[in-house]
Amino acid sequence: MLEKINELLAETNNFISTSAEEIEQFRVRMLGKKGTITLLFDEFKTIEPALKKEFGQKLNELKTLAQDKIQQMKTSLEDSSDTSSGLDLSLPGESFAIGSRHPISLIRNEIVQIFARLGFTVSEGPEIEDDWHVFSALNFPPEHPARDMQDTFFIEKNPDYLLRTHTSSVQIRVMEKQQPPIRIIMPGRVFRNEAISARSHCIFHQVEGLYIAENVSFADLKQTLMYFAKEMFGEKTKIRLRPSFFPFTEPSAEMDISCNCNGKGCNLCKYTGWLEILGCGMVDPNVLDACGIDSKKYTGFAFGMGIERIAMLKFDIKDIRMYFENDVRFLNQFKAAF
Ligand code: PHE
Repeated sequence: MLEKINELLAETNNFISTSAEEIEQFRVRMLGKKGTITLLFDEFKTIEPALKKEFGQKLNELKTLAQDKIQQMKTSLEDSSDTSSGLDLSLPGESFAIGSRHPISLIRNEIVQIFARLGFTVSEGPEIEDDWHVFSALNFPPEHPARDMQDTFFIEKNPDYLLRTHTSSVQIRVMEKQQPPIRIIMPGRVFRNEAISARSHCIFHQVEGLYIAENVSFADLKQTLMYFAKEMFGEKTKIRLRPSFFPFTEPSAEMDISCNCNGKGCNLCKYTGWLEILGCGMVDPNVLDACGIDSKKYTGFAFGMGIERIAMLKFDIKDIRMYFENDVRFLNQFKAAF
């Protein structure tokens, strides 16, 4: 009988279950009316009085262990399926505010996509530049007044370095490394020492384009820009090129697009019917030579536009400072834009 009790003690100790049914079966098998332990108590009555003490203690130990074990299993089972803790997994999740893309990013991405369809790929360059990449290689002679067209932030400790005033510096970096054909578009942040107002800011964004190959003509430039204007502003958009000047292009032009008022004249186009959107021209042979590209063999065109300006026209934004204020009431409005 002692051996039997020891076996049952081991079995009870090892018993583990997460099923209510199994626990109940165990209880019936051990402590039920015909359970093993219950029967052992009946047997105990017939035992010799001298052995009663030892057996009695062991048997009680077994009974208590079995009862405790069953209770413990039941409690842990209840805990794991408890819903009174306030956790209701069937409730819908809490919604949280999702951000939206900044209008500058939206327009930059759209411009990149339009030119990607014409085979242009994206190139980027540093914002802190040297004089060579921003001015000298782009055919701005030293002391030439054209440098004043772009008020520059110089690095105080070393004025050979400056914050780039235009993304044209990236053209130079690419042409120095790569021979034509080159067909790239260069989005980026630029800096000019200008008073901040509704129309101008000291930090803004440009996208510049460059195409260099054999026999590239002004007609190619015009067609490329016309495609861009229609994709960006709609099929009915007309373009107009006016002669202009940039040191790095010859001839140079500025491009206008037709205003939505259809030439009737409105505040936006200042009653001219046209809106200026970019500068462009045929790359000056001096620029190609400065970068080690044979200007007798290759020609090309370049263009550059301000992303803020394009976004202002597209979204009817009246003040350039809004882009930098991070006011969510402004930014939220572009959620559904694309
Ligand atoms: N880099 C010129 C600017 O910042 C724009 C431009 C680019 C003009 C390329 C012509 C060709 O104003």
